Amino acid sequence: MRPFEIKKDIWWVGVVDWNLRDFHGYETEKGSTYNAYLVKGAEKTVLFDTVKSDYTSKFIHNLKQVIEPEKIDYIVSNHSEMDHTGALPEVMKIVKPEKLFVTRKGMETLNAHFHNNDWPFEIVDKEAGLDIGGKTIEFIGSPMLHWPESMVSYIPQDGLLISNDIFGQHLATSERFDDQVEMGELKWQTAKYYANIFNGVSNAMKKFIEKIDERKLNLQLLAVDHGVIWRKNIPEVLKWYRFWANQESLKKAVVVYDTMWGSTSKMANAIVGGLVEAGVSAKLCDLRYNHRSDVITEILDTRAIILGSPVLNKGILPQMGDFITYMKGLLPRNKIGTVFSSYGWNDAAGKILTEALEEIKVAMVDPGISVNYVPTHDDLKKCHELGLKVGKAILAG
Ligand code: FEO
Repeated sequence: MRPFEIKKDIWWVGVVDWNLRDFHGYETEKGSTYNAYLVKGAEKTVLFDTVKSDYTSKFIHNLKQVIEPEKIDYIVSNHSEMDHTGALPEVMKIVKPEKLFVTRKGMETLNAHFHNNDWPFEIVDKEAGLDIGGKTIEFIGSPMLHWPESMVSYIPQDGLLISNDIFGQHLATSERFDDQVEMGELKWQTAKYYANIFNGVSNAMKKFIEKIDERKLNLQLLAVDHGVIWRKNIPEVLKWYRFWANQESLKKAVVVYDTMWGSTSKMANAIVGGLVEAGVSAKLCDLRYNHRSDVITEILDTRAIILGSPVLNKGILPQMGDFITYMKGLLPRNKIGTVFSSYGWNDAAGKILTEALEEIKVAMVDPGISVNYVPTHDDLKKCHELGLKVGKAILAG
């Protein structure tokens, strides 16, 4: 993809990674982009972020199509993670910027990554904007979004917020704007990004949204570091982010399970029957067919989480162990739930699943059900009733 002028003197110079399928455990089935931006002021030209190291030569090629890299005056590193700084060492050698703008923690992180302590770091001033001639860059801290050192850059003259990971999506496209792609896909990928990257730091996200509300930013372009740039649906994405950051939920339950010989599968289906009879939306996620990152996306807006596993070697099946580890890191909040399990001679799984839910403060609606080997007709009726009970609890609020 060639560089693209998104607004006069503001260029997208990123790269599209069509083949990315894993981002630290998050399945990126639609690929991604690493967005970087070049902004030309009347006096200074500024590069915001770089790309993953695999794409260094492509990135430098992109820059050369817009400007001779030596003519870039400043570089801003909004976020130190390697998908945005991998190309930075090579770019620093070629550009030799006067200043590299970062937060203090950003400087420490870049030094810990690249051990180039002689880079011309300029720690950003919280209050003062940086005048580049006809445009001013305001640096706004966004700690923990998605790392402690993160910040965003705002240019009021253009209504441009270069927002690093915030509002991003892992979505590789030839289009550069939100109104050029299918909205259902865009909402799913935006939710998936939030669920898999930001959910565990929702309090920090709430503070960030409050901060941009207080500052009454004139937002015309949300220039994200992944996926398409928001220009038409900015109120929509802000509304979604408020809902997710507040950990609000729909009248919905997600039943997540793994099965060995089909017993927990039968139980899961009976529980879903009860949920539906209660009048709530239900999602059934067999971990053999649903990736952890899609299941956690379903959990983002659910009210209830119901976990099920048979016993294996005094524990639970490994894919459920994987999912629990992942979920504990992403800390879904304000949920209710229960568990179900099957066993042969050691009724251990229910306790493990309950502890996992209690660790993330899920309010248990019911202690749950375990069956010996294969559920009977009566057992399945009890599972249906369990679904009904959870469904009624969801409707009760
Ligand atoms: Fe896109 Fe937190 O890096």
